[in-house]
Amino acid sequence: MKEISQRILSIPPSPTGTLNARTQELIKQGKNILNFTIGEPDFKTPLHIQEAAIMAIREGHTRYTANEGMMSLRKAIATKFKADNQLDYETDQIVVSNGAKHSLFNLYQALLNPGDEVILQTPYWVSYPTMIELAGGTPILVPTTIDTQFKMTPQLIKNYLTPRTKVLHLNSPSNPTGMIYTQEELEELGKLAIEHDLWIVSDEIYEKLIYEERHVSIASLDPQLYERTITVNGMSKAYAMTGWRVGYMAGDAALMKKVTSFQSHTTSNASSVSQMAALAALTGDQGPVEEMRQQFYNRRELMTKGLAAIPGTRVMKPNGAFYLFIEVKGWIEKLELQHDLQLAESLLYECGIAVVPGSAFGLEGYLRFSFANSEEEIQQAIERLSLKFC
Ligand SMILES: Cc1ncc(COP(=O)(O)O)c(C=O)c1O
Repeated sequence: MKEISQRILSIPPSPTGTLNARTQELIKQGKNILNFTIGEPDFKTPLHIQEAAIMAIREGHTRYTANEGMMSLRKAIATKFKADNQLDYETDQIVVSNGAKHSLFNLYQALLNPGDEVILQTPYWVSYPTMIELAGGTPILVPTTIDTQFKMTPQLIKNYLTPRTKVLHLNSPSNPTGMIYTQEELEELGKLAIEHDLWIVSDEIYEKLIYEERHVSIASLDPQLYERTITVNGMSKAYAMTGWRVGYMAGDAALMKKVTSFQSHTTSNASSVSQMAALAALTGDQGPVEEMRQQFYNRRELMTKGLAAIPGTRVMKPNGAFYLFIEVKGWIEKLELQHDLQLAESLLYECGIAVVPGSAFGLEGYLRFSFANSEEEIQQAIERLSLKFC
């Protein structure tokens, strides 16, 4: 048989795939595994959203919708952008897709030519480099560490700019670090983007999970930033709706038209029932969002304090999202290991704790702990780790 496509062969296997498979295997065997790998809220989708979906099915909202999403939902998204982000988008500037991941994939297909470069910081969310490469682009990795609070600066980025640089990719609040950029920092990054005529892709999916500071959308800071930014968001994290698969983006109307055309030939619209649920989420009671944020806040406090107290770690308290990305070179040394992947394996088998190694996000010597777990589980994990490393 002839070989399958080079494109598909170029997709790297997930660095955590084997670890996840082993975690699931151990859980199936009945082992007491505390799973901190999870990238989704552990809450149920709020009841009024569930009810809206059931009603949607009964009322016949079960057919194709416009490829770019139902007009009523795009209107609600425009209202949300205005209220939350001080951004004026018309409905023809908004496209609804099957999750923010899908939005980003479509967007890069529409933006990039072969060889175009995208400035992307490490550590990064695992799917970014692959989706950029699948669009023919090249991710240009700009290193950040805990010493720089996982932040890029214009000075740092300048070392990585070339005539092929086309996009500045931002993710604030960040997965995996929980870092958020302040308004001043975004203004500085924005200036650089204007100076070098770059598009900005701003993934703001964790905007509602923010603990001290205020979320700022870079597109709202200047008309020149508004016109070059595509703001990406979705229902998954804020409304505990990961399985419903609704994400959206907003930006230049002509670009959004092209994205819609691409989407029309691949998936058509996002599920009609899920769109009705998203409409209920955006227009209904926002109380559950705040309740979930409060719980994440308490867990963050518990986990940050607990992990920082164990020798061998360096911990930055995350300002947003639900992850702690901690430096663990001391633990790797203590166990006489070489790599964070070995450390993650050791924690899984010897402590019953599943975590994602930093190398999966492009930065070795770190671990990502998700705090989408109960306070009891967090407490138990701290106890197990204290026994091993104190
Ligand atoms: C930074 C970031 N962006 C986008 C997504 C995709 O979210 P979804 O496709 O569920 O909307 C995730 C999910 O983990 C994420 O962490």
